[in-house]
Amino acid sequence: MARRKKIYEGKAKILYEGPEPGTIVQYFKDDATAFNAQKKDVIEGKGVLNNRLSEFFMTGLNNIGVPTHFLRRLNMREQLCRSCEIIPLEVIVRNVAAGSLSKRLGIEEGTQLPRPIVEYCFKNDELGDPLVTEEHIAAFGWASQQDMDDIVHLALRVNDFLSGVMMAVGIKLVDFKIEIGRVYEGDFQRLVVADEISPDSCRLWDIETGKHLDKDVFRRDLGSLTDAYTEVAQRLGVLPRSTGATKPTLIN
Ligand code: TMP
Repeated sequence: MARRKKIYEGKAKILYEGPEPGTIVQYFKDDATAFNAQKKDVIEGKGVLNNRLSEFFMTGLNNIGVPTHFLRRLNMREQLCRSCEIIPLEVIVRNVAAGSLSKRLGIEEGTQLPRPIVEYCFKNDELGDPLVTEEHIAAFGWASQQDMDDIVHLALRVNDFLSGVMMAVGIKLVDFKIEIGRVYEGDFQRLVVADEISPDSCRLWDIETGKHLDKDVFRRDLGSLTDAYTEVAQRLGVLPRSTGATKPTLIN
């Protein structure tokens, strides 16, 4: 069989050329990194869980008319996506103070914010993804004013959708990060939600106990990351609840 062409390898995923023009294959690795890859580990089954969870969220978004790059899941670790040009921004939406916002502004983690706050970071590992404003984005031409209007609209729709889905299973959506891609259709371009949506890129707290069910479990050494992600997947009905001692098989 012909070897596929690798387009890009990131910290958690590999992108390959897809089977048809305009498509890519997104492969989810088990690698976990934090603090700009200063902390690293391989967590067996994480890629499988994130592939399934990202499929679930992206399909839900597609179904309510929020465009995403996701086309279909191919297997345990891979999904077929539309190829797009990634805008070099991490778009963060926050509902509750946590993480870098709490540090930066001295607001206690867990403080409900008066309204969702949208922030942007410049996607650049060498610089540690610094926070930027719309002024920087416009001045350096990373996105136009029209793009920014569309990005805020998309980000807030994703926030409403994800908050509701999570709330229904007893989980608080504290914050999340998305990436936005440009898809070209003839002379037109459309912005779509790209990359992944998973517990790697969200903060998810159990409503009752405040237990962390996201990558902070790895960042802060709070226990088993796969147990946390499995819990999210089971509550959402993405994975069956195990009835006995055996855990769901996550290794392909
Ligand atoms: P922060 O509080 O560390 O800025 O993170 C905000 C949100 O963005 C949180 O849900 C985790 C997510 N995130 C990523 O997806 N990738 C990253 O590299 C970082 C730093 C945060």
